[in-house]
Amino acid sequence: MKVLITGSQGQLGRALIKFKPKYTQIYAMNRSNFDMLDIPSCLKIIKSINPDWIINCGAYTNVDLAESDADTAMRVNFHAPKAFAEEIKRLGGKFLQISTDYVFDGKKEIKTPYQTNEKRSPLGIYGLSKSYAEEAIEEIFQDSHQAVILRTSWLVGPVGKNFVLTILNLMLKNKEIKVVNDQIGSPTSTFSLANICWKIIYLKQYKFIFNQKSNRILHWQDNGETNWYEIALTISNLSKEIGLLKSNTKIIPITTSEFPSIVKRPSYSVLDTKLTKSLLKYEGRYWKITLKEVLEKIQMDRKSLYSIKSRS
Ligand SMILES: NC(=O)c1ccc[n+]([C@@H]2O[C@H](COP(=O)([O-])OP(=O)(O)OC[C@H]3O[C@@H](n4cnc5c(N)ncnc54)[C@H](OP(=O)(O)O)[C@@H]3O)[C@@H](O)[C@H]2O)c1
Repeated sequence: MKVLITGSQGQLGRALIKFKPKYTQIYAMNRSNFDMLDIPSCLKIIKSINPDWIINCGAYTNVDLAESDADTAMRVNFHAPKAFAEEIKRLGGKFLQISTDYVFDGKKEIKTPYQTNEKRSPLGIYGLSKSYAEEAIEEIFQDSHQAVILRTSWLVGPVGKNFVLTILNLMLKNKEIKVVNDQIGSPTSTFSLANICWKIIYLKQYKFIFNQKSNRILHWQDNGETNWYEIALTISNLSKEIGLLKSNTKIIPITTSEFPSIVKRPSYSVLDTKLTKSLLKYEGRYWKITLKEVLEKIQMDRKSLYSIKSRS
């Protein structure tokens, strides 16, 4: 199986490579060999590789910056995946688009997890660009089973830019930090999500399951609902438990209105994952368990870095 991964240096891209299943040939694309702003060159590469699957995790992910750089965000998050999807459809391969909870505004009155078929209503440019990409992919593949849109949320992992590494860093440097406690969602470890992507790709009876239009969009998050403040507290407690951190930084809960930000974020973005769980016959794991796994990996990487440094 030939799988082309865009954004392979990003946090999900790296996890996908780390958990690559046997007999999978990966074509790892990154900004230097596959600039998503240069669509014609990317299409040539796709054509020459002729992959069985493209996993599109390349994206403009800076939600705040996207507001003042909308053109680039739209080109990377909407125009590029649209063009890749058209090309892979023509070539007869399949497309896995990674999407986001930010296609929703979080404003629904009764706070129940978002179903895959609920109306998109993004609050900012990032969400809008991902939402346009979803619509385009649905349109392109309306008569085929060649695409899956996998929405996820609050990605955390041992590498890249994410909340866990930011909080660890802040706790090293500060006596107290403030974290918002009124945005409700679910963190997702890049390890869990990579595992789900590979499960989808290697799903038996794939054609049968994804022939139904209603199954084109899937959701994945680790189990359980929480908020950023509680995640920060858990990072602090677990890090002390495993010896990753000694800090006694005080974590103070604040509201979103106290935290200056250019762009509004959904106040509630829990995704309903039942459909994915039943299709994949997999129940997933609680977010504190997957978070501990991420922290243990960070600790392992730091230890091996330390031992390399002390040997040299
Ligand atoms: N992070 C989250 O909390 C979150 C939540 C929900 C959904 N998602 C979605 O999940 C997917 C993976 O996210 P992630 O957290 O792994 O993102 P990430 O770490 O920011 O990785 C995105 C990758 O895309 C690459 N990229 C950006 N512009 C590019 C361009 N013009 N040409 C080629 N590559 C380019 C980046 O390259 P550089 O490293 O060179 O910048 C980076 O390696 C994305 O589709 C994202 O929208 C993320």
